[in-house]
Amino acid sequence: MKTYSPELQISGSRPFFLQITPKFVLLFSIIFLFLTIIPLHVFPLLATSLSWSSLIPSSSSNIDPIAALRGTKESCDIFKGEWVPNPHTPYYNETCWAIQEHQNCIKFGRPDTGFMKWRWRPDGCELPAFNPVQFLELMRGKSLAFVGDSVGRNQMQSLICLLLKVSYSVDASIIQDEKFRRFYFPDYNFTVATFWSPFLVRAKEADPNGPTLSGLFNLYLDEADANWTTKITEFDYVIVSVGHWFFRPAMFYENHRIVGCQYCRTSIATDLPKYYGYRMAFRTAFRAFNSLADFKGAVILRTFAPAHFENGLWNQGGDCMRRRPFRRDEARLEGMNFEMYKAQMEEFNAAAAKGRKKGVRFRLLDATEAMLLRPDGHPSRYGHPPNANVTLYNDCVHWCLPGPIDTWNEFLLHIVKSEGGRSATGRQSPIR
Ligand SMILES: *[C@@H]1O[C@H](CO)[C@@H](O)[C@H](O)[C@H]1NC(C)=O
Ligand SMILES: *[C@@H]1O[C@H](CO)[C@@H](O)[C@H](O)[C@H]1NC(C)=O
Ligand SMILES: *[C@@H]1O[C@H](CO)[C@@H](O)[C@H](O)[C@H]1NC(C)=O
Ligand SMILES: *[C@@H]1O[C@H](CO)[C@@H](O)[C@H](O)[C@H]1NC(C)=O
Repeated sequence: MKTYSPELQISGSRPFFLQITPKFVLLFSIIFLFLTIIPLHVFPLLATSLSWSSLIPSSSSNIDPIAALRGTKESCDIFKGEWVPNPHTPYYNETCWAIQEHQNCIKFGRPDTGFMKWRWRPDGCELPAFNPVQFLELMRGKSLAFVGDSVGRNQMQSLICLLLKVSYSVDASIIQDEKFRRFYFPDYNFTVATFWSPFLVRAKEADPNGPTLSGLFNLYLDEADANWTTKITEFDYVIVSVGHWFFRPAMFYENHRIVGCQYCRTSIATDLPKYYGYRMAFRTAFRAFNSLADFKGAVILRTFAPAHFENGLWNQGGDCMRRRPFRRDEARLEGMNFEMYKAQMEEFNAAAAKGRKKGVRFRLLDATEAMLLRPDGHPSRYGHPPNANVTLYNDCVHWCLPGPIDTWNEFLLHIVKSEGGRSATGRQSPIR
């Protein structure tokens, strides 16, 4: 079992250490990452290192805490399974224009292609290959939004590449901001949009350096980010996901008052239990959907996707060098990854119960187990030219395209099919 060093590692020219209590020290380490498309060397950001463990015997317990949180009622839980070799070529290649540079691993010389040659096989059923025509027919006259950070955008870019095999899209952005893009597929009257909101709630960078040189954010945990709440009612499907930004120092506000903080090293606020901010952000975001009077769409939670740094922190030579997926008995969801998952799932389950009364549909796109098993799917050093001066040299947070993230869109198609082509206006699509 691997654990990681007990420092909160911070970017910058000098190493910086935070005193944090040993209890979670073993589970945490912190990195910066580039969660934007801005060149890496000008935009140091934060992400997590990992807390998966490898090569451990599988749990002897009969109770599967993940399945318990998920509470699957369908006959087959498509999110539980394993990666099996896939003889087919990837859905698309590095020439797809929608791939963001930093995830175009082949372009930057990744020599191995094995990471593209796996498919997710759920236990007891098959997850069909992505059928772009079927997806677009189900989405005819509809719209899909991604709300979250750059890992959410990573999925959107995968989706666009998958759809470009059979159709074309035009830029339909309303504002010229890379963080708020819209793409329109004229043949199907289908819109896909992305809303940048790495915390889901209102956030303000209070200090670009902060106590750990990684910025200090004021997070207004009871106020959903108006950047998406004011625009979201027109969408039929909204995929919500955030994660790695929640490892930055933050001051938490509720009802306009400071209620606590994380990694803040100040006497004006107390350090709150881990995952408090993450949990509250989801609570507030889901509550916003349940209280938006004219929202008639479906909310899809895409769950936390673990990072895979090994042999060091992000800025201490930590890297993701594995060249094949883990078998299911080689990794276990635990520690930080499990806590993130648990917090969001508990909030999701509570919101879904309220949504049932209010007519808001909550659906689950559970990527956590599948991605835990993909240490081979990250860009590592192939997200930039070899000699680039970048803050996060080895990216073990985002995912190469094509790559395992394409599976998230297979999950998405499965969800959309099970929705039976309902739309925000209550119309039923003729295609099932
Ligand atoms: C990549 O995909 C494009 C479009 O499908 C195709 O024309 C091209 O031959 C492919 N290139 C490689 C190297 O496979
Ligand atoms: C396209 O879809 C929107 C709903 O997303 C609908 O209001 C509009 O009438 C559709 N346009 C056409 C040309 O079908
Ligand atoms: C909303 O977006 C604008 C433009 O990107 C940004 O300046 C602002 O900080 C965002 N608001 C929040 C709460 O993140
Ligand atoms: C790398 O970039 C940083 C920040 O832009 C700069 O301070 C540093 O001098 C650069 N290093 C090299 C070797 O170019």
